[in-house]
Amino acid sequence: ATDGRVIPLARGAEPVWKSPGPTMPLLRAQRDELREHIVDGRLDGVRRQHSLGKHTARERLDLLLDPDSFTEVELYRRHQASGLGLAENRPYTDGVIAGSGTIDGRRVFVYAQDFTVFGGSLGEAHAAKIHKVMDLAIATGSPLIGLNDSGGARIQEGVMALNGYGGIFRRQVEASGVIPQISVVLGPCAGGAAYSPALADFVFMVRDTARMYLTGPDVVETVTGERVSHDELGGADVHGASSGVATVVHDDEESCLADVRYLVSLLPSNYLEPAPREPSQDAAKDRRPRFAELVPVEPNKPYDMRDVFSELADDGEFFELHERWARNVLCALARVDGRVVGLVGNQPVVFAGVLDGPASQKAARFVRFCDAFSIPLVTLVDVPGFLPGVEQEHSGIIRHGAQLLHAYCEATVPRVQVILRKAYGGAYIVMDSRSIGTDLSLAWPTNQIAVMGAEGAVNVLFRKDLAAASDPDALRARLVAEYTEEFMNPQYSAERGLVDDIIDPADTRSAVARALDMLQDKRKAAPRRKHGNHPI
Ligand code: HXC
Repeated sequence: ATDGRVIPLARGAEPVWKSPGPTMPLLRAQRDELREHIVDGRLDGVRRQHSLGKHTARERLDLLLDPDSFTEVELYRRHQASGLGLAENRPYTDGVIAGSGTIDGRRVFVYAQDFTVFGGSLGEAHAAKIHKVMDLAIATGSPLIGLNDSGGARIQEGVMALNGYGGIFRRQVEASGVIPQISVVLGPCAGGAAYSPALADFVFMVRDTARMYLTGPDVVETVTGERVSHDELGGADVHGASSGVATVVHDDEESCLADVRYLVSLLPSNYLEPAPREPSQDAAKDRRPRFAELVPVEPNKPYDMRDVFSELADDGEFFELHERWARNVLCALARVDGRVVGLVGNQPVVFAGVLDGPASQKAARFVRFCDAFSIPLVTLVDVPGFLPGVEQEHSGIIRHGAQLLHAYCEATVPRVQVILRKAYGGAYIVMDSRSIGTDLSLAWPTNQIAVMGAEGAVNVLFRKDLAAASDPDALRARLVAEYTEEFMNPQYSAERGLVDDIIDPADTRSAVARALDMLQDKRKAAPRRKHGNHPI
């Protein structure tokens, strides 16, 4: 796979610029000699990468970018350090390939750490190259994609390496909400280096080779006595399913980088531009999907909200975030009638779609991303409430729920709420209800907005009557029926302005598409202030 490819020189590159020759041909000859050495590089590092199922930095860029679109910067940069034998070992590129290319013809800035050079470790020059592409990405309003494969701070360069990381983190925070930031972890990413993916909008990881942790297994064992493998501590599945650090997990680099391309196709280049709209082949306004078949009328019967997303999205396609973390809520980017939207939906097949701490955090971060990049939000509600329990309360469900509430309340993008079935209590409010600012609320006839489910309500309101009744079950059944009839129907909410329309489920896609048309020019200024104090 390396035949004919450019491989960076690992070490011992000796041809250097001599004093400039008097004529242009001589200068060209020197440049060609230099380039030849850079492309020839040491092959053992490359072989090792391949033996581990990994690609080299340049192969990865080939997979990520449109053919022949890459323009490299600072190819000849090399470190100026001298400690611990570095003076004799000054490879060109300094272990990171940086520059710009296109994805589907749209500009992105990229850097790819090269593990074959100093283990991809980050020193002053390496960091400066990353800073450079970050600055250019911000200045040109283009997405930034970092391919991480690194042993972390270059130990020989000491605090200058740490200084380099600080410069990356500061730029990432400055770029937050300005350009989309995508971090792809394709090897080790340890210590403070893990904060770079953590600050990005999207984190991709590849199984078996990618790992992220602040302290490795040896330190963990020394400090806590726990014995754990690299993968168990910080592998892709751990971060994809448990910690929520990884947004997307893949089995191999090819599918991972192809998926990064797909994601980029759904994102705007910066906060001032709209996400690319693609004419839909899937005529939104004509299609009558089979929503009603997918969603059972009985309020507690499970169904897969993914099927609803598929029916709603153009061509049934959506890009799901955090597929295996906090699965009781679904977050996805998709197109509806060609327009990119952020879909948020409760997932009845996981904990009945209840909201808990992780689900609130997952949805909150997604809502904030969509709002920052002007992506309209479509929220599909079928929620029995927040998860009760000592563990939830003690782990801060109040704080986490507040994050979601805050995220929705401050969102100024077009917002459409569709209530499919249940919408109870605080969870109803939080799932983009009218009261917190949704622009349009649509409800199916099966809709039940209420403070709580009928059984619970009757037990609270009629406890004494039920205790005294000769046939409590019969009384309860009658009271439940009365409560359901009076409160748990869409007319009750529609008459009070909490629901704009009661729609036939089959019309959901066209109703959402029409709502997005109606709201496309929405502008809403945030109050003047430095920034809000989001309950992070
Ligand atoms: C300098 C490094 C390096 C580093 C690896 N190398 N990490 N050189 N600084 N941090 C070099 C190795 O010396 C080796 O050089 C080559 O890269 C390949 O490394 P191997 O160890 O042979 O590879 P492998 O067995 O795959 O192990 C990979 C590894 C291991 C798990 C990443 O190299 C490792 O543990 N490295 C140190 C990790 C670390 O402690 N980093 C500092 C973290 S502190 P040769 O010449 O033999 O090919 C940190 C703070 C950041 O990052 C703070 C930011 C705020």
